[in-house]
Amino acid sequence: MKGFIFDLDGVITDTAKYHYEAWRNLGEKLGITVDEKFNEQLKGISRMDSLDRILALGNKENEYSLYEKKQLAAEKNAYYLNLLQGLGPDDLLSGVKEFLMAAQERNIPCAIASASKNAPLILEKLDVNDYFEAIVDPASLAKGKPHPEIFIRAAQLIGIEATEAIGFEDAQAGVDGIKACGMFAVGIEVDEPLIGVDISVNSFCDLDIDKLLEIQRNRHTAQ
Ligand code: BG6
Ligand code: MG
Repeated sequence: MKGFIFDLDGVITDTAKYHYEAWRNLGEKLGITVDEKFNEQLKGISRMDSLDRILALGNKENEYSLYEKKQLAAEKNAYYLNLLQGLGPDDLLSGVKEFLMAAQERNIPCAIASASKNAPLILEKLDVNDYFEAIVDPASLAKGKPHPEIFIRAAQLIGIEATEAIGFEDAQAGVDGIKACGMFAVGIEVDEPLIGVDISVNSFCDLDIDKLLEIQRNRHTAQ
C-alpha cells in the first residue's frame, strides 16, 4: 500500500506568491511590514492564524475585535481571489501533471492536505480534480500545521497508514507535520531550506516516481 499526499500552495501551483502579495497588501493598510522572510512563517498556516501572526508582528494583537479580524481576513481573501482570476491549467508547477499521471497509471491514490479553504476552487481552475481521491476539509480539523492531524486525516481518506504515505511540502510547518506522523517527506525547496525532509528537490521534474517509491520502501522496511 502506498499513497501520495500533497500540500497545494507552492507545491501544485505557485499560489504561495499570491498569498504573500495579499498579506503584504493588508499589512500595508495596517501599518505592518510583511517582508519575504516573515512570510516564510505564514506558509502552511491558516488564514486566521496568519492574520494573528501579522498583528503580533506589528504589536497590534489587542487592537481588533474578533468581528474586525474576520473582516480583515475576508478582505485579504477577496484580494487573493482577485489575483487568482487568471489561474488555469498552465499554472501547474512544472512536472506536477506528469507526476499525477504517473501516479494514476500505477494506481497510487493521491490526496490534498492543504490549510487552504480555497483548495477545491484552485484544483478546479487547474483542471486536476480528477487526480485526487480526497481533499481534507481544513475546517474539520482541530489543529493546523505543524500538527500532523491534516496528514493523518489525508492518509485515512485514501485508506492507508500515515507511515505508508509520501508527503510533499514547500513549508517548514508542513514538513514538521509530515514527520510528526512518521510519513516520508519530500521537500519542494525553492526559497528557504527545509529542515528534516527525507528528500529535497526544486521541482517535480527532478523526481523519478519509481525511484522515489523504492527509496521510501527501503526506508519503511528498515524502520
Ligand atoms: C496554506 C498557505 O496552504 O493555506 C497559507 O500556505 C494560507 O499561506 C493558508 O494562509 C490558508 O489559505 P486560504 O486560501 O484558506 O486563505
Ligand atoms: Mg505550501
